[in-house]
Amino acid sequence: MRGTNGIAVPSWTVPMLPFPDPPLTDAVVALRRWRGADVPQRFAGFRDPLCLRYSWPLAEPFTEEHVLRRFAGEEEARLAGEELALAVVDATDQARVLGGASLYDVDHDQERAAIGYWLVAHARGRGVATRALRLLAGWAFDRLRLARLELTCAPDNDASQRVAERCGFVREGVLRSHLRFKGERRDSVLFSLLPGELV
Ligand SMILES: CC(C)(COP(=O)(O)OP(=O)(O)OC[C@H]1O[C@@H](n2cnc3c(N)ncnc32)[C@H](O)[C@@H]1OP(=O)(O)O)[C@@H](O)C(=O)NCCC(=O)NCCS
Repeated sequence: MRGTNGIAVPSWTVPMLPFPDPPLTDAVVALRRWRGADVPQRFAGFRDPLCLRYSWPLAEPFTEEHVLRRFAGEEEARLAGEELALAVVDATDQARVLGGASLYDVDHDQERAAIGYWLVAHARGRGVATRALRLLAGWAFDRLRLARLELTCAPDNDASQRVAERCGFVREGVLRSHLRFKGERRDSVLFSLLPGELV
């Protein structure tokens, strides 16, 4: 991690990202830390045409090995204060994974982070992503004192853009050639949310 002047910040000053305590829930969905036992559900849920189309940036096939590597990478990034990845689960049956939601590219210096989400196919179409986004965005403003949340998605990802707008995110425009995606470059639509705008 680097400060505003570009000088590396000693590791003991990097704020590790805490898990929300108490855990986030609205009595319908809950956001909890990922568990090793979730690997098969996470793999099966994400290995879905819509997730692979919009949320899998690599050209190579998605495998269970990628899930295991992500698990380790996410914890490393959390300890470095850069990312917080949570499982979206049924509030009444927390072993049942409905998807994932995360804060990433957390920039403490600029009080800014990006936020993202995905759902297993059977959990879609009933507002689950909207609930998860509200919970995590609200916590990020309250607990991390962020001044800005950013959300990016593919220009044709209408469902994701609706979820963002439902929560109060404001569309700012198109980031041209924003990402390396499946061996090509892809545009993204950029949304942002400021404190007090969450609905
Ligand atoms: C994006 C995603 C999380 C949306 O979650 P969801 O809870 O199922 O969202 P919903 O089905 O409630 O849809 C939200 C809105 O989009 C609309 N919508 C859904 N599919 C749509 C489509 N193909 N075209 C246009 N609108 C669509 C819904 O009607 C709803 O609109 P409303 O707010 O007016 O009622 C889910 O589709 C998903 O997991 N997609 C794959 C991964 C992904 O794209 N992640 C986001 C990357 S930026």
